[in-house]
Amino acid sequence: NPPNFQMEESCGLNRANCRAKGGAAGFKVAILGAAGGIGQPLALLMKMNPLVSVLHLYDVVNTPGVTADISHMDTGAVVRGFLGQQQLEDALTGMDLVIIPAGVPRKPGMTRDDLFNINAGIVKTLCEGIAKCCPQAIVNIISNPVNSTVPIAAEVFKKAGTFDPNRVLGVTMLDVVRANTFVAEVLGLDPRETDVPVVGGHAGVTILPLLSQVKPPCSFTQKEIDYLTDRIQNGGTEVVEAKAGSGSATLSMAYAAVKFADACLRGLRGDASVVQCAYVASAVTELPFFATKVRLGRAGVEEIYPLGPLNEYERAGLEKAKKELAASIQKGVSFIRK
Ligand code: NAD
Ligand code: LMR
Repeated sequence: NPPNFQMEESCGLNRANCRAKGGAAGFKVAILGAAGGIGQPLALLMKMNPLVSVLHLYDVVNTPGVTADISHMDTGAVVRGFLGQQQLEDALTGMDLVIIPAGVPRKPGMTRDDLFNINAGIVKTLCEGIAKCCPQAIVNIISNPVNSTVPIAAEVFKKAGTFDPNRVLGVTMLDVVRANTFVAEVLGLDPRETDVPVVGGHAGVTILPLLSQVKPPCSFTQKEIDYLTDRIQNGGTEVVEAKAGSGSATLSMAYAAVKFADACLRGLRGDASVVQCAYVASAVTELPFFATKVRLGRAGVEEIYPLGPLNEYERAGLEKAKKELAASIQKGVSFIRK
């Protein structure tokens, strides 16, 4: 083990365990891909979350440094680092929530689907570990292409006999965060008071903002609808191009991931009315996976809300979204069943 890992094991762990057990509402959370562009700020923000008692940071590189750094923060969560495949099982054992931002990001000119060949295998391996070591955990999947990696996770869990559709959630929160921001900008609202449902999936035309259902109720010109739909659907590409080859959204994604993970933890704690959009196994459309608003509770997804009334523009968008989503879902399923 690297020296800082030894240090934590020999000096801090026993008392840390006591501290963790003492926290009545403390949950155990693992981040897989914790040393990456999303993983590091996500680890920082989860260390600040009072609902977290134990935070496991796993990656195939650089976790000793990230763990040492984050562990000096004087917040409640006990941090432990895990490096490389041989430590994956220790990282996962006993976890309540596993967040997966592991995998390669896009460069300009790429689609999220271009990441499939590398990230599909990464997600498969990590989910095999989850099936073995913490099959009851809620799983938040960030790795792209989310439209395919969630079906991959589901197939891995089905194969292992541990699949619970209520516990596997694709994180589409960044689309909602962007939609809230861009709509608030156009309407001169406070983004914190703006609620835009975004349904479908997490890539291009599968990202379907329902501008007719924005709260507070408001109306848009057709020009505003075209501008907002395009900007929300291409928000990821906007960041990829601005970063010019050095990666994709990391900071806003870490913010969105923590907002979503916190909702999952509040649900696990038993809070009432915790509702967020997520990409889950769903019967809302004829597709096996779809993102809509869901209510989160002790069992994970406890209720999936219907799409609600759509206008003609949104109905046309839905048809386009479903066509692309169907192919992405099939690609993920075939990757495991082949
Ligand atoms: P990054 O390259 O900065 O970090 C990825 C991390 O994953 C690295 O530290 C790497 O070592 C680690 N990793 C690679 N293989 C691993 C394995 N087998 N096990 C554990 N860790 C492994 O990338 P990033 O910017 O953090 O993005 C990560 C992923 O998140 C990408 O696929 C990206 O497309 C996706 N993403 C999704 C959303 C979303 O809204 N769902 C938003 C932004 C990015
Ligand atoms: C995003 O929406 O920012 C992510 O999916 C990353 C990307 O590749 O766009």
